[in-house]
Amino acid sequence: MTRELGDVIPAPGEVRPDAAAAFTVDAGTAISAAPGTEQVAAYLADALRPATGFEFPAGDGPGTIALSLDSDLAAEAYRLEIATAGVRLTAGAPAGLFNAVQTLRQLLPAEVYAATPQQVAWTLPGGTIVDAPRFGYRGAMLDVARHFFTVAEVKAFIDAVVQFKINHLHLHLTDDQGWRIEIDSWPKLTAISGGDGTGVDGVGPGFYTKADYTEIVEYAATRFVTIVPEIDMPGHVNAAQVAYPELTADGVAPPQRTDVEVGYSSLVAGKDETYAFVGDVLREVAALTPGPYVHIGGDEAQATTAEDYRTFIERVLPLVTAYGKSPIGWHEMATVDLPPSAVTQYWRIEAADDGTARAAATGGKVLMSPADRTYLDMKYAADSPLGLDWAGTLDVEKAYGWDPAERLPGVGEESLLGVEAPLWSETLRSLADVLTMTFPRLPAIAEIGWSPRETHDWESFRRRLGAFGPRWQQQNVAYHPSPEVPWAE
Ligand code: ACM
Repeated sequence: MTRELGDVIPAPGEVRPDAAAAFTVDAGTAISAAPGTEQVAAYLADALRPATGFEFPAGDGPGTIALSLDSDLAAEAYRLEIATAGVRLTAGAPAGLFNAVQTLRQLLPAEVYAATPQQVAWTLPGGTIVDAPRFGYRGAMLDVARHFFTVAEVKAFIDAVVQFKINHLHLHLTDDQGWRIEIDSWPKLTAISGGDGTGVDGVGPGFYTKADYTEIVEYAATRFVTIVPEIDMPGHVNAAQVAYPELTADGVAPPQRTDVEVGYSSLVAGKDETYAFVGDVLREVAALTPGPYVHIGGDEAQATTAEDYRTFIERVLPLVTAYGKSPIGWHEMATVDLPPSAVTQYWRIEAADDGTARAAATGGKVLMSPADRTYLDMKYAADSPLGLDWAGTLDVEKAYGWDPAERLPGVGEESLLGVEAPLWSETLRSLADVLTMTFPRLPAIAEIGWSPRETHDWESFRRRLGAFGPRWQQQNVAYHPSPEVPWAE
């Protein structure tokens, strides 16, 4: 059955259906790539070939899918025009064309995501979509410290989330239970704290070599996703202190930890070794990371006095800037006076404030990740086998039922960098676990981050979401069959 032109997540800004103008992709369909669009054209052909069995040669003229750039459109904005004579994708930059391709895939039958040829009429509904994001930063976060996920697993995660126009992947690389990124100048971090027995319950070992990390960064870039690396400090550092006891106050190595406690470890604000360590780590991570941000954590530093916390953050922020990056930190960081380049990631449950609105008032941007709405590791319901519930349970309607510009007084639309859905991995043991917690809730956060506020509508969203059950099944993407969603057969 042909889809309706507006059956897309995130909801497009403008949808003008033309029922008389459907286009059917067939064995004769060619793809035409204007200069600068070749990479996305190749991605589109690769995406359509397995299920259709068609070749999609380069070509032009009637019956083609044509990609081109238009400098009048913003980089991520696009226009998708479907007519009986052909399909046109136009965008301000290749990133916008990639967004157009994801919309196009969603408008084809669910079988388009299959790995082998399907006998289906590949008909696209006619009309025009004109679309652009509400926020430039639409993120997901994966905690690879509590449980390590391989390069292949991270790539699979990226491929699943970009279908919803997610464009940042924050990797929580270090925590009490493990250190997951190779640092040449401090090799024991991974040799000891990335090895066997690390992770929650001691069952999440592994780390990224520099080549592995670069492979993730480069793969993400082909999907227009920016990697945001996080080195969490001054708390959440037990794994670093196990490897390097000189990073503790008394120089004695603490025991390795595989439990889920938080708030007990701290770097020492008054020790020179601390800043030698932090400087080396930030220099190496910044050098590996082409994106503009390095995340310095800053959360739950209960084992650091307020004065030491301030001393530490005030010394570390300029290091991030010196290595050419903008710092992001969890909202606790905003208790310190921040430079305008620093981004505050707000994760509180209550609409109380630790300084985030003050940071916004001086020009700082805020990334919205309230735990009660965006934390993908919260249980769906009390009986969910996976996940935690300290921020409450989180069903799809609750994940969808909020607005980032109304969450925190003093932090309105103009202060928002965007939204991010973090996924912590204390209870996760496999890619299937990751995906089951991600879908179907991440599409709710993605729509909040992308779509104009006036399109926000739960009844419309749940109906559109129901169509993704068969799409995830075709891709072998695990998802939770949330009861509030009318799943398509
Ligand atoms: C956090 O949930 N500790 C950022």
